[in-house]
Amino acid sequence: MLICHTIKEIRDFVRQARSRGLTVGFVPTMGYFHEGHLTLMRRAKEACDVVVVSIFVNPLQFGPREDYDRYPRDLDRDVSLAREVGVDAIFHPSVEEMYPPGFATHVDVEGLTECLCGLSRPGHFRGVATVVTKLFNIVRPDRAFFGQKDAQQALVIRRMVEDLNMDLEIVTVPTVREEDGLAMSSRNVYLSPEERRAATVLPRSLQAARRAYESGERDAGRLVELVRGMIAAEPRAVIDYVEIRSIPDLKPVSRLDGPALLALAVRFGSTRLIDNLVLGSPDGVL
Ligand code: PAF
Repeated sequence: MLICHTIKEIRDFVRQARSRGLTVGFVPTMGYFHEGHLTLMRRAKEACDVVVVSIFVNPLQFGPREDYDRYPRDLDRDVSLAREVGVDAIFHPSVEEMYPPGFATHVDVEGLTECLCGLSRPGHFRGVATVVTKLFNIVRPDRAFFGQKDAQQALVIRRMVEDLNMDLEIVTVPTVREEDGLAMSSRNVYLSPEERRAATVLPRSLQAARRAYESGERDAGRLVELVRGMIAAEPRAVIDYVEIRSIPDLKPVSRLDGPALLALAVRFGSTRLIDNLVLGSPDGVL
């Protein structure tokens, strides 16, 4: 497995693969791999001849009071996990390589980014869209793989790819969960044992909403109240938002007549967790 630190190195690697007629799958990450990342890599391997994974904690998508400095990092462990999965190349650039002095161009996706996480994390999706555009331009993949846990991010990236005529396919992969249902996230390591136990209210509340939906409930307000009520009963949980919005344009909905996203963000101590449920889509995938 090749480890590239410069844009030139990874470009040369991809150019060679393409000249041999191979397809390129790409998994952009911020590292500190868990089973969710490894699942994305396995999906990429199934679908493409060559798999490139980027590891870059992107400063542009963190707010000034967010966890950029303490975001967990362990490159050696990530490299050996990626090797086990059969990844062909890792792209691990420095901040200076990605944002050299004078860097001045950003990508803004309007509308979709002005709700849910966009409200509590101003600038976050601008940072994501900018770095993902750069990574797509550097790697030039045929397909890129994103987890459904970050559903708003996946929808923003799909919109951007369509609007800017980027020539690749975006594949969304279902959320991978711990045995007790908590969605896997690199940020789960921040939770104290008590917070970790309390956080299981998130998947439990989403399951309750799914059951209510399957029993015929189509009133968005009542589904939201069900989830909010369960989470509010957990003293360690502080709700940022629980909302139901349409897929793919994330407009508010009052009745669920088509595919919809029940999305939530909840704080446990200083850790903010997100999770979601896709309703009204045949396979539950975005
Ligand atoms: O989902 C993530 O890990 C990041 O937002 C991404 C897509 C790698 C961009 O930095």
